Amino acid sequence: MKNKKMAPIGVFDSGVGGLTVAREISRQLPYENIVYFGDTARVPYGSKSQNTIIRFSEQIIRFLRTKQVKAIVIACNTASAFALDAVQHEQDIPVLGVIGAGAKVAAEETVNKRVGVIGTVGTVGSGIHEAYLKKLDPKITVIGKACPLFVPLVEEGWLHDPVTVEVANRYLQELKDKDVDTLILGCTHYPLLKPLLKAEAPGITLVDSALTTAEAAAQALAAADLLNSGNGSADYRFYVSDIPLRFRTIGERFLGRSMEQIEMVSLG
Ligand code: DGL
Repeated sequence: MKNKKMAPIGVFDSGVGGLTVAREISRQLPYENIVYFGDTARVPYGSKSQNTIIRFSEQIIRFLRTKQVKAIVIACNTASAFALDAVQHEQDIPVLGVIGAGAKVAAEETVNKRVGVIGTVGTVGSGIHEAYLKKLDPKITVIGKACPLFVPLVEEGWLHDPVTVEVANRYLQELKDKDVDTLILGCTHYPLLKPLLKAEAPGITLVDSALTTAEAAAQALAAADLLNSGNGSADYRFYVSDIPLRFRTIGERFLGRSMEQIEMVSLG
């Protein structure tokens, strides 16, 4: 590509969830072209082992690099937790995960030094947020809570349903009992639950990893002199490893706009 700045950003996730990150990137960086890959044939990642997630991530990055991406955003919290370190040093372009930026904001926001983290079983079990937060401030105590039921509830579109309120209260109780004042939304799907979580956890500061990651991507691109400062409208391409029923409907809800170019590819 003649002008590297015009090359797309590669964004990937286990499925539709990472579209919340793509949405924030497109909001904060409206001139950036995006190539999105959702591993819909192999979702969920949240319950799989680290070795498997590293292998999947490497395959996806190889695919994204065939699209001449100038940077990669691992928009999946589980893949960021398990694979970022392994894949980052193999690449000669910026590779960002979704954990670091959220941890930094949480460390700045917490007053009582008690930070909660919600995410998949894999992300919470990895202890990655604790590692980041302790490095930023050893006095911070991190309380993790896996919330696996949130993913299907969000995909069902039950963002204000009494069932989701009930589930949220069960999950949040432990975090409230442990007096967290800041809560990291450590899963791609959770930004859509922000209004509900705000209502059910009043007084707790929510940290949206999609938002913080888009900010971090903007900084990383600027630092590498790769920011696309604009020339016409941005191009978005979506690739998936399967086209499940309702993919487009759910995806468009996550992305907040229509998805025209969806193509199925096989990574095998
Ligand atoms: N995208 C995943 C994450 O952010 C949630 C869905 C899954 O388990 O694959 O961890």
